[in-house]
Amino acid sequence: DDDADMVSRPPVVTIMGHVDHGKTSLLDAIRHTRVTSGEAGGITQHIGAYQVEQDGQKITFIDTPGHAAFTAMRARGAESTDIAILVVAADDSVMPQTIESINHAKAAGVPMIVAINKMDKPDADAQKVRTELLQHEVFVESMGGEVLDVEVSATKGTNLDRLLEAIVLQSELLELKANPDRTAEGTVVEAQLDRGRGSVATVLVQKGTLKTGDIIVLGDEWGRVRALVDDAGKQVKEAGPSTPVEVLGLQGTPQAGDRFAVVENESRAREISDYRQRAAREKAVARQAG
Ligand code: GTP
Ligand code: NA
Ligand code: MG
Repeated sequence: DDDADMVSRPPVVTIMGHVDHGKTSLLDAIRHTRVTSGEAGGITQHIGAYQVEQDGQKITFIDTPGHAAFTAMRARGAESTDIAILVVAADDSVMPQTIESINHAKAAGVPMIVAINKMDKPDADAQKVRTELLQHEVFVESMGGEVLDVEVSATKGTNLDRLLEAIVLQSELLELKANPDRTAEGTVVEAQLDRGRGSVATVLVQKGTLKTGDIIVLGDEWGRVRALVDDAGKQVKEAGPSTPVEVLGLQGTPQAGDRFAVVENESRAREISDYRQRAAREKAVARQAG
């Protein structure tokens, strides 16, 4: 894309960290504090990613189970994360999956923000977390480094706005841009066969704008976009860069981490998906044959 076509886009944020350190709680807490009061009881339809706003700046959170999804996406060459939030429980400090997460983020070249969680617990020790992070070459600000760290409590909702501010600050440094005026491309965040709605995929649009009526190929599946549903469960006509959206009208169910792209017509979509399905079958047969 030409530089002139590029406009700034929201950061895409993934949450990583050790088991039970509060990844899901933190995502839920952020989501709930930001749900507009118009949505009665804070009941929003769950999709695998959502957007919030902080000081007029949008932030996209990918709501998949920790770094398993992050690794899967990276393995498929789809680096869709701009910023990784490393959640470390202040009562448990740095644990094996904390270290794994650090390594993944470093390997992917994704900047980290540390959320020191469970600060409401009596045995919380944020300083111990910072010192142990230092041993893994994560240098937080207060230790003379550049990694932003925020003490939070997901269950009490403490300092969530400070965490969001840190994300905005970090994303401004990254100068994230994309061209909205082209055919859409992106990544499948999650997909399932829904009883009433057929195959449904939550996708993250990374380039261009996805529109109703577009013909898309997702991994080895395809479809004509019948409807797009945003993270609040509202039907929308289109979705631009860094926007998570549910896609209806698929012929089959793709896999999390699959890339998707808009193609010119249905026969082209069939051609690509047939080819990929055949290739996958041949690979499976070859594997069985040893
Ligand atoms: P996995 O997905 O299983 O790896 O766990 P997770 O990192 O998503 O952690 P989860 O959000 O499921 O939280 C694990 C436990 O810690 C739950 O019992 C939460 O209620 C609790 N927890 C999470 N955040 C906080 C917090 O800020 N303070 C306290 N006291 N408990 C918390
Ligand atoms: Na858990
Ligand atoms: Mg979880």
